[in-house]
Formats: sequence, C-alpha cells, structure tokens
Amino acid sequence: MKILVTGGAGFIGSHVCDILLEQNHQITVVDNLSHGHKNLLNPAVNFIQADLLDQSKIEDTLHGHDAVIHMASFIEVGESVKKAVEFSENNIVGTVKLLEAMRKAAVKKIIFSSSACVYGRPKKLPITEEDILGEQENPYGLTKVSMEQFCILYNKLYNFDVSILRYFNPYGPNELHTPETHAIPNFIKAVLEKKSIPLYWKGNQIRDFIYIDDLAFAHTLPLSQSGLHIYNVGTQTGTEVIDVVKKIFEIVGYEVPIEDKGERKGDVPSLVASSEKIKQQFGWQAKVDLDEGLRKTIEFFKSLKS
Ligand SMILES: NC(=O)c1ccc[n+]([C@@H]2O[C@H](COP(=O)([O-])OP(=O)(O)OC[C@H]3O[C@@H](n4cnc5c(N)ncnc54)[C@H](O)[C@@H]3O)[C@@H](O)[C@H]2O)c1
Repeated sequence: MKILVTGGAGFIGSHVCDILLEQNHQITVVDNLSHGHKNLLNPAVNFIQADLLDQSKIEDTLHGHDAVIHMASFIEVGESVKKAVEFSENNIVGTVKLLEAMRKAAVKKIIFSSSACVYGRPKKLPITEEDILGEQENPYGLTKVSMEQFCILYNKLYNFDVSILRYFNPYGPNELHTPETHAIPNFIKAVLEKKSIPLYWKGNQIRDFIYIDDLAFAHTLPLSQSGLHIYNVGTQTGTEVIDVVKKIFEIVGYEVPIEDKGERKGDVPSLVASSEKIKQQFGWQAKVDLDEGLRKTIEFFKSLKS
C-alpha cells in the first residue's frame, strides 16, 4: 500500500515507518520537525517537511495514497496546561484539516494514534474499549478525545475507514522528546549519568508499559480493515513504577539515589489495558517483556553516549 504517516519523524512514528517498510509498503512521511528528528527517519521513506495546518500542501501530498497513519501531535501534558490554545490548534485543527484534505484527495482510510488518557481516571481495571471516557485533567487529553471524535465523525459523514489505537505506556529506543517527561527514558538517562532518579508517589503508580516494536506492529493490522474500530494497545500487565526502577538497577548492575518528589496533581493511580479485543481480532499480543524491552532501551541510550 501507499501510506502517508504524519509525525513519522517522532519516537513512535520512526518505528512504525520501519515496520511498514519491512512489509514492503511505500511510505511518505509528513512532519514539520517541530519535535521530530530527521535522522530517525529510514532513508527509504519519502520525506515531506510540512505542517498539518497547511491543508493545501497536505492535500497535494495525499493524492495517490491508500491510507494515513496519523501520529503528528503535540504531546507534552504539562506544556499543554500552559499552552491550551497552541495545543488545540495544532492537534484538533490540524486533525480536522488533515481529514478535510483526505476527503478532497479521496483517501478514506485513517489509523489514529490515541492514548489511554482518554479514559481519565478509570473506574475498573483492566480498561476495555467499551468503558466510558473520563473527564480530562489537561488540554492534551482533551485534544486526544476531540481528535478521536473527529475521526469517528468522518466515518459517519463520509464513510471513512477509521481505526483508533489507544496506546498505554510506550517505551523504547528513539524516545528523544524535549522536554522528556516520560518515566522510562528519564530513569535510564539518570542512571547512565549516575544522577538521582526523580520519583513521584514513591513509585507506587501502576502502568502498562508496552515496548515500541509491539506497539509499532499493531499499526499494520487495521490497514486491511474497513469500518470503525477502536483498540487498546497494551500488555495487559500492570507494573509499579518503582519496580521499573529496580529492574533498571538490576540490568546496569548498580544503583543511584532516588529523589522523592512527593505527589503530582492530575496523575492517575493505575492504568492497565485489556487488549482482548485486538488479540481476538488479529491475534496480536505483546511479545517483548519488560526485562528484554528495558535492556534494548538501555543499549540505545548507551549508544548515544559513545
Ligand atoms: N509517547 C507516548 O507515550 C504516547 C502515548 C500515547 C499516545 N501517543 C501519541 O502517539 C503519537 C506520537 O507520539 P510520539 O511519542 O512519537 O511523539 P513525538 O513528539 O516524538 O512525535 C510527534 C511528531 O509529530 C510532529 N508534529 C507535531 N505537530 C505537527 C504538525 N502540526 N504538522 C506536522 N508534524 C507535526 C513532530 O515534529 C513529531 O515528529 C502522538 O499522537 C501522541 O499523542 C504517544
């Protein structure tokens, strides 16, 4: 297939492109490089530096494609609180412009990167796709809910094929966000630099950490599907954040001090996916366990230093 990937120069997008190329798809990446890294891009992709808000350029680029994987977004939760307008414009208006460009270019299949954050504070675990969406505690989460809803609307209005993937906590090589607020890359960088690890809630929060190769592979599954579908993508295993820290210490063979940062407003105590739906429909399940995933991620961050 000929697939256009938005945000393909980012952490997750770079891995999705690699796996699509392995499967012999033809890939165009659209990324404005506001947060992406050109060097993460596989040289076999056709790279177009463009902003989603430039609707006519996106429409021109889209002609002849069969599907879109839409990953471009501003993602930093804390920043979204300070920049609600910028986040709304980039994420929500950017998505509406993309959908309009797709409609005009007659490209009617989209796979959208959503997040477990749409569930808000879950009432039960594991979370299933049928659970109601929760109240949001920051503009980022609200943009994800809105982006999902616009994709769903284009299914209803224009018969788009829409697959929404709600990621739980992805981690792995190429995670180079600035600022970085995600636990695993920050823990690994602190340990490799022999600095203290900042830890909220004494590390008692539970998260469903999914290795990037497993997550990237999940994007290839709905490409052949029509209609509207929503899937959680997680491992179905909850891990306490403190246990991630202990595992990193075990792998590197030494410890660094832990800095107790107390409580943090807006954090949800536990997030664990039910991934039964994607498993039943496609036979997908996470293959890389936390130990192997952390080892590969540590190797990546070590390689940046050498
Ligand atoms: N990383 C996570 O933990 C996580 C969890 C759940 C969902 N997601 C979603 O997955 C997607 C990818 O996340 P990521 O971690 O790879 O982020 P990332 O910041 O590494 O990648 C996003 C990419 O989008 C590009 N971009 C942003 N706005 C753009 C615009 N207007 N036009 C063109 N390009 C634009 C950026 O330059 C960047 O390369 C996002 O939609 C994010 O909301 C991520």
